[in-house]
Amino acid sequence: MSARRSGSGSLAAFDAMWSDLESVGQARSGGYRRFAWTAEDHTLREWFAGECARRGLELTTDRVGNQWGWWWDGPGTVDDAVAAGRRAVVTGSHLDSVPDGGAFDGPLGVVSALAAVDRLREAGVRPQVPVAVTNFVDEEGARFGIACAGSRVLTGQLDPARALALTDADGTTYAEALRAAGRDPDDLGPDPQTLARVGAFVELHVEQGRALVDLGAPVAVASDIWPHGRWRFDFPGEANHAGTTRLQDRRDAMLGYADLVLGARHVATQRGCVATVGKVHVTPGGVNAIPSHVTGWLDARGADEEQVVATVAELTARGEEMGATVTRESWTPTTRFDQGLSERLRRVLDRDAEVSAPVLGTGAGHDAGILATAGVPSTMLFVRNPTGVSHSPAEHAEAADCHAGVAALADCLRDLTTGGATTGDGPQDGAA
Ligand code: GLV
Ligand code: MN
Ligand code: MN
Repeated sequence: MSARRSGSGSLAAFDAMWSDLESVGQARSGGYRRFAWTAEDHTLREWFAGECARRGLELTTDRVGNQWGWWWDGPGTVDDAVAAGRRAVVTGSHLDSVPDGGAFDGPLGVVSALAAVDRLREAGVRPQVPVAVTNFVDEEGARFGIACAGSRVLTGQLDPARALALTDADGTTYAEALRAAGRDPDDLGPDPQTLARVGAFVELHVEQGRALVDLGAPVAVASDIWPHGRWRFDFPGEANHAGTTRLQDRRDAMLGYADLVLGARHVATQRGCVATVGKVHVTPGGVNAIPSHVTGWLDARGADEEQVVATVAELTARGEEMGATVTRESWTPTTRFDQGLSERLRRVLDRDAEVSAPVLGTGAGHDAGILATAGVPSTMLFVRNPTGVSHSPAEHAEAADCHAGVAALADCLRDLTTGGATTGDGPQDGAA
C-alpha cells in the first residue's frame, strides 16, 4: 500500500501512521528487517508510545516489554474497573518482522487498532469496559529463535531463564539485548497482573494465504491455528581441504543437512503436512572447506496434529541416523479460538456486509493463539491479501481493504465494549 491520504478522521490517521512506518527498517529488498530489541525495534516502540500519547492512552509496559495503551473514561482507574468485573477488550499485534518480511504482518494489526480507537471516538462511543491497544514484542522470533516470545513469557508459556539464555546469530544473549535496550533482565517474567486485566483479545492481521481473494470478501474471522513448531538439527562433521581430501575420507556435515531438506519435503508430502528448512548455519562456511558443522532449523505444521508429530519423529530418526542432535525449540499444539467470540464477531461483520464474513483457519502462529492457550477469550480478523504471499516483500493489502479492516475492527470493539450501543449512558456489566 503506498502512502496516501484519504479524507479526514480515523482512515486519514491510518494512512498517516502507515506512512510513518514505511521507512523504518526497510531493507534493499523492499522488505523489512525489524528484530526484537534492535535500534529499529526501539524506533517502533517509541513510535507506538507517541501514538498512545497523542490519543491520551495510558501507556504501560509489562514485565516482558510488551506495550499496552489503555483507554478508560469510566469511573476510577483501569484496575478499579477490572476489580469491578469490567475486564478490558484488547486489540493489537506486533511491529517486528521476519528477515525481509512484508510491511503488513504485524503492523497492520497495530495501526488498525489505533485507528479503530479513533473511529470509536469519532462515533462518540463510550466503552463500558477499558479498551487497550498492544504491541507485542518479538512475535516472529527472528532474532532469538522462539516465535511469540513476548506473549509466551507474559503468559508463563516460556521460562524466563530459558529466554534470557537464548542467543542471536552474533552470540548476543537475550539478557544482553534487554540490557542494551535499557531493560533489566531480572524484570523478565510472567505478568499475571497485566494478564488479569484482559477480558478478550482480538488481533487483526493480514491474511497469509489467498482464501479471501477466492471468496471475494475483504475481512474474515479466525477459527483456529494449526499445530506448529521449530526444531534445531545439529550435524557434526570434520573440516578439511575441499581439494585434497578423498571423498571416502570425508565427514561432511552438509550431507546430513541435505538429507533433512529433501526428507522434510518427502515426509511432509506423504503425511499431508508442511515442513520447511528456512535457515541454515554452516561452519566454517568456506567454499573450499568441508563443513565441520551444519545447523538447520526445521519448521513443521499441519492441520492434523498427529501427522505433524509423526513427520517430526520420522525426520528426527532420519537426522539422528546421520549423526544429528535434534532439539525442539518450540511447540504450539492446535489452538482453537474462542468460538463464542468468533461467532459474535462474525455476526457483527455480517450486519452491513455485502458478502458474509468467512471463517478461516490458519497455518501461521500469532500472539492471539498464545493468549487463547492461556485461557484469554481470543480471536482474530484477517484482511484480504491479493498476492496471498507473506513473510516476503510481496505481502500486500489494498488500501480499501485496510480501511475495511479498521471499520470491521471498530464495529467489533464497539459491540464487545458496549453491547452494540453507539453511546454509553454509563457503565454496565462488562460486555466481554
Ligand atoms: C509467525 O508468523 C509464524 O507463523 O511463524
Ligand atoms: Mn509472521
Ligand atoms: Mn504476525
